[in-house]
Amino acid sequence: MTQAFPDKGRGRAEVLAELTESKQQDLKSDGRAFAFVYDAGDELRDLAREAFASCMTINGLDPTVYPSARKIENGVTKACLELMHAPEGAVATATAGGTESVMLAVKAARDYSRRNRPEVTRPVMLLPETAHACFHKAAHYLGVEARLFKVDDHFRADVEDARSKLTKDVILIVGSAPSYAHGVVDPISELAALTKEHGALMHVDACVGGCLLPFMKENGVALPAFDFEVPGVTSISMDLHKYGFAPKGISVVLQRTRALRDAQYYACATWTGYSIVNSTTLGSKSVAAMGAAYALLQHLGRAGYRERVAAMWAATLELAEHIEREPELRLLARPDANLLAFTTKEGDVFELADRLTERGWHVQPTYAFGSSPAHIHLTLDPGNAAHASAFAADLSASLVDLPKTTPPNPQVVAMLEVLGNGESGLDAGVLMSELGIADGQLPGRAATIHRLLNAAPPATREQLLITFIGELFS
Ligand SMILES: Cc1ncc(COP(=O)(O)O)c(C=O)c1O
Repeated sequence: MTQAFPDKGRGRAEVLAELTESKQQDLKSDGRAFAFVYDAGDELRDLAREAFASCMTINGLDPTVYPSARKIENGVTKACLELMHAPEGAVATATAGGTESVMLAVKAARDYSRRNRPEVTRPVMLLPETAHACFHKAAHYLGVEARLFKVDDHFRADVEDARSKLTKDVILIVGSAPSYAHGVVDPISELAALTKEHGALMHVDACVGGCLLPFMKENGVALPAFDFEVPGVTSISMDLHKYGFAPKGISVVLQRTRALRDAQYYACATWTGYSIVNSTTLGSKSVAAMGAAYALLQHLGRAGYRERVAAMWAATLELAEHIEREPELRLLARPDANLLAFTTKEGDVFELADRLTERGWHVQPTYAFGSSPAHIHLTLDPGNAAHASAFAADLSASLVDLPKTTPPNPQVVAMLEVLGNGESGLDAGVLMSELGIADGQLPGRAATIHRLLNAAPPATREQLLITFIGELFS
C-alpha cells in the first residue's frame, strides 16, 4: 500500500506534476462555465499569480510585525470605501470571502445591539427569501434568528412583508445588491428607511455587486442607490474574489462607523500566550489573495473595470432577450446585473441542463424554494460573455423535443426523506452509487438526481448534502 505521507520524500517535479494532473477534471476557465468562474483572462491571471506568490509569506495575524499586511489591506479597503461612497468615519476590514464578511457583519450587529439595545434578548435578522445562504449560516453560528420575508414578482425584497415581520427583537435587516440567484437589486432605500424607523441596522450584501454596480453606473446604466449613499445602510459586504477578478480568499466588510467595527473585532487576554486582537475570524492568515486584489485594482483602474463590466452587461442583455424570445423559456426576472435565472414552461429544466452539459457548457441547475421555481442559473464573466451568442444557439438547439417535466416517483422521494432524517440505517454510499455518484462527481447526466432533490423538502436536502460531503472526504 502506498503511504499517504511517504517516509522518503519525492522529487519536486514529480510532486508538482501530480498536482497539475489532479486538476484535469476541474471546471476550466475556458469561457464555457456559467457559474463559479470569474475570470478576466490570461494577462490578469498572471499578474494575480505573481502578486499572490510575492505576498505568500506575509502573516496578517500581526500588522505590527508585518507592516506590509496593514499597507496592503488599507490599499484594498480604501478603494472599496471610495467605491461605496463611504462617509467620513466609515471603516472596513479585508476578509477571506463573502461568507466571512457577512458573518462578521452579523456579529457586529449582534454585539453592537447587545451594548446599545440591551432590552433585546433574542436577536433577529430579517432576510428576504433571496438572501444568500451565508446569512443562514451566520444565524446558525451566532445565535441570531433568521426570519424570512417574501419577495415580489420580480424577486425583489417585499418591503411591506418585511414590515409585517418586524418585532422589537429585530436588530438587522438585509438587502442584496444584487441577489445571487436572480441578479436583481432589492429596494435598498425603502428597506433602509424601514430599518431606520425601527432603530435597527441594515446590511447590504454587495458580494457580487460591489465590483459591478458602481461601474455599470459609471457606464450610464440607470440603477438605484444601494451603498452608503443611502442613509440607514450601516454595513456592506463586497467580494474581490468575484468581480474584482482576484483569486479566492478576498472580500471586504465595510462599516459606517468605528463603533460598529469595534463590535466586529475580537480581543482575548485570558490565556497564557500572546494577547490577541483579531479583526476577522482567522488568527494567522494569508495576505496573498489580498495582495493579488490590490495589484488588480491598481493595474486595471476604474477604466479597466468599466470596460469589462460593459462587455458582461451587453452579453447579459443579449442572453436575457434571447431567453425572452424563446416561447418555451421563461426569464424569472429581468436582471439588474450580469447574473440571471430562467426556467422552462413545460419541458424538464433538469434535462435541459444535462443537454447543455453535453454541449460542453457548465450551468447551475437550481432547486425550487419559496416563490422561486426550479431553474437554471447563469453567472456571466468576461470569459463566457465572449461566447454568449454560441451559448444562446446551443440553448435553443437543446430545446428541440425537450421532454415534459415528470415528477419523480413519490416513493423514492419518501425514501430520501427517511434517509435524510439519518436514523434509517440505510447506507448513503449505496444510494449514491445507485444514482451514479462516483468518486465525488455527479454523473454526466444528473437530471434524475436533481429531480429527486428538487422534490425533497429543504431539510432533507440539507441532511443529504451533509451525508454526501461526508462521503467525499477521508
Ligand atoms: C450575493 C452573495 N453573497 C454572499 C456570497 C458568499 O460568498 P463566498 O462564496 O465568497 O463566501 C455569495 C456567493 O456567491 C453571493 O453571491
